[in-house]
Amino acid sequence: MEILVTTNPGIEDLVEEELWEIFGKCIERIEYKKNRGRLVFSIDDCTKYIAERIYTMTMIHRAGILVAQGKVDKAKDGLNDVFNTIYSSDIYGYVTPYMKFAIRAERIGRNHEYTSIDIARVAGDAVIEAVEKKYGMRPKVDLDYPNIVIHVDVVEDNLYVYIAFTGDISMHRRGYRIYDHPAALKPTLAAAMIRLSRAVDGEIIMDSMCGGGTIPIEAALTFENTRQICMDINPVHIKGAEINAIAANVRNRIEFIVGDASKIHEYVKTSIDRIISNPPYGIRVGNPRAIRELYKRFIINVPKVLSENATITLITTEHKVIEETITNEGSPLVKIHERIVSHGNLWPKIMVLRVEKP
Ligand SMILES: C[S@@+](CC[C@H](N)C(=O)[O-])C[C@H]1O[C@@H](n2cnc3c(N)ncnc32)[C@H](O)[C@@H]1O
Repeated sequence: MEILVTTNPGIEDLVEEELWEIFGKCIERIEYKKNRGRLVFSIDDCTKYIAERIYTMTMIHRAGILVAQGKVDKAKDGLNDVFNTIYSSDIYGYVTPYMKFAIRAERIGRNHEYTSIDIARVAGDAVIEAVEKKYGMRPKVDLDYPNIVIHVDVVEDNLYVYIAFTGDISMHRRGYRIYDHPAALKPTLAAAMIRLSRAVDGEIIMDSMCGGGTIPIEAALTFENTRQICMDINPVHIKGAEINAIAANVRNRIEFIVGDASKIHEYVKTSIDRIISNPPYGIRVGNPRAIRELYKRFIINVPKVLSENATITLITTEHKVIEETITNEGSPLVKIHERIVSHGNLWPKIMVLRVEKP
């Protein structure tokens, strides 16, 4: 059986790691392209465990049975590719004339001469005609209360048709987010940052600009024995983060501090093993000069609170300020990893730094 999982573009390799960890030898092969946010894997013996194990994954958005995939032209003709791929698939094995179905179409990438609405319309026609050809009767479309939802994703020049078994709501929408921070990080990206930070159980993990607490909460849900510190300059966000931590049932594992990350050494009295943070970008809100100053002071002061093998993992569009500060201020920090990921309609970098060993 072929399964498709969707994720945040830029972290496909980390999802691959998680798939191997969770399904191990049940997996026959995994295929994906960088930055497409889609992985296809085939699984044989362990089919009955798929749904139960998939729900333990931290970095995926949806999972489903892959019905068809193929290439699709970005020009108007691409709609014929969508039609033909679905029409010639065994979609009739999933949709019968007695069922009501819905298409959810997504189009990702540039220069397509059609919209996701066009894709949904053509895909719907293909399903109806394929089912009619097989059974001599047409199924009905019902967008509100369908018996089955067929996802049709066009990602650049790739087409994926799948039936999600993780429901209509993406798994990145965690149930604990009662307080909705205006610039919240996707929990799936927070989980990716935790993995990249090399954190292990038992450590002290701090998000010094924690907003609604996504990173500390994800860390507390990932590890049993880590201690989390969630600091933000805004007391309203700290209150919100606390509410979210209560909803996630991890309140007792997170310490909340109202404080200024540019003077982090004045608030923290223990050595921190992992700083994992999503600082303000200064693109949508804020004064760009003040934001640059915050980054500069943070990079200068953060080594004062770190343990020996500590790492600092940041997601930001302001990576240049970090690199300039490291160079100009003679900082002991060195970059050990970086990658670009998609976040909303931005492409920030995740950077991992550590203190240079003499
Ligand atoms: C991008 S948001 C973090 C969102 C968070 N990751 C979440 O998912 O909710 C950046 C946060 O940095 C905080 N911040 C800005 N300047 C700060 C400073 N000097 N010290 C600590 N926090 C600061 C803001 O209040 C904001 O909540």
